[in-house]
Amino acid sequence: MIYLDNAASTQIHEDVLNSMLPFMREQYGNPSSIHRHGRLARKAIEKARKQVASLINADPKEIFFTSGGTESNNLALNGLAMKYQDGRIITSSIEHDAILQPCKKLSSLGFNVVYVPVNHFGTVDLEELQNCISEDTRLVSIMFGNNEVGTIQPISKIAKICRDNNIPFHTDAVQATGKIAIDVKDLGLDLLSISSHKINGPKGVGALYVKKTLDLDPLILGGGQEHGLRSGTENVANIVGFGKACEIAEKNLLNNVSYLEDLKNSLVENVLKKIPKVTLNGDPIQRLPNNAHFTFLGINGEDLIIKLDEYGIAASTGSACSVNTQKASHVLESMSFSHEQITGSLRLTVGIFNTSEEIIETADILSKVVKELRSVSPYKEKYSFS
Ligand SMILES: Cc1ncc(COP(=O)(O)O)c(C=O)c1O
Repeated sequence: MIYLDNAASTQIHEDVLNSMLPFMREQYGNPSSIHRHGRLARKAIEKARKQVASLINADPKEIFFTSGGTESNNLALNGLAMKYQDGRIITSSIEHDAILQPCKKLSSLGFNVVYVPVNHFGTVDLEELQNCISEDTRLVSIMFGNNEVGTIQPISKIAKICRDNNIPFHTDAVQATGKIAIDVKDLGLDLLSISSHKINGPKGVGALYVKKTLDLDPLILGGGQEHGLRSGTENVANIVGFGKACEIAEKNLLNNVSYLEDLKNSLVENVLKKIPKVTLNGDPIQRLPNNAHFTFLGINGEDLIIKLDEYGIAASTGSACSVNTQKASHVLESMSFSHEQITGSLRLTVGIFNTSEEIIETADILSKVVKELRSVSPYKEKYSFS
C-alpha cells in the first residue's frame, strides 16, 4: 500500500501510541478526582497542554482541549457569536464544512455571514476582506492552509486587518499545524483550531487556542472542565497522545517540512513530466508542503481513485471529512474551475512515513492509469488522446 491521503488522516506515530497505552490500562483515573489516580491523570493532561501550546507558541492557559478540528471550529464561531444577538461574521468561500455549516446555522439565527471570494489560486482577496468589514463585525474566520488545494492564506496580513479594526480573528489551522511554523503571538492570532489526527496523533481530539483577552461562551455545559469552556470528563489517553504528537511535530518541524517538500516536489515534477494535459492546482509557491492537487483533463477523478486503489495507492479528490462526495467541490468552484476541471481533479498528500521510492512508483502507476482511462474517455477526440 502507498498511502497518499495524509490530509484526510495520518498514521499514528509509534511513540504517540506508546504514550497513550498506560492511560487506557492502569492509569484510568478521572482527572477531576482528588486521589492519586486522579492527580496522575490531571498531571498528564497539563503536560499535554504545555506540549500543544509550545508547538504554536501559546500560553498553556490559552489551550482548550476538544474532540477535534470540527468542534474547535464550532466552539470558536458559536462561542464568540453567542456573546451577541446579531452582527456580521466574515469568512471565506473555500472553508472546510466545519466552518461553513456552523456559519449557515448562525445565518439562520440572524447573523449576517459574508463570504470573501478567492482568486484562481485559492487566495483570499484582501481588498475584498477590507471592504466587507463593518461596524458590527463580530469575527473573521479564514483558514490557514486549504485542505483540498493546499493554498496558504496571507494570515499575518489578515490578522493585521482584523487588529486594525478591533475584530477577533480565528483561523482553522487543522491542515497547516505541524507543516508550517506557527507562532500565534508573532502572527497576532486570537483563535486557532488544531486537530490531532492530521499530525500523527489519535483521532477524536484537538484543541482551540483562545487568546487570554478573549472570552467565549461554551458549547457544551456540564461539570465545568477546561475552565468551564468544554465540559465532560477529559479523554485522557487521546489528550496525552495529542500532546506527544505535538512534541514530536515541534522537534522535527524543520526536517519534516523539507522532507515533505522534497517528496511533493518530486511527485509534481514526475507527474507533469510523465503525463500530458495535467495542471497543478492551488498556489504554486504559497502552498502546504505536503499537498499536490492536479487536474487530469478528460477523466473522472473518482474513476482515477478507484483504479489507483486497485494498485494499492490511497488518493482522494478533496475533502474526506465531508460525507457528501457527490457534491462538486465548493473550493474549486470558488476558484472558477470549469465543471470538467473539477471532475478531473485528484489530491495526493504526502506524509512523514512516505518514501521517495513510493513517489516514483506512484507517478509511474498514475501515468499508466491515466492513459488507460483516457483511452475510453468521451473527450478522447476533443483532446486527441491516443
Ligand atoms: C481544514 C479542516 N478543518 C477541519 C477539519 C475537521 O477536523 P476533525 O477531523 O479533527 O474534526 C478538517 C478535516 O479534514 C480539515 O481539513
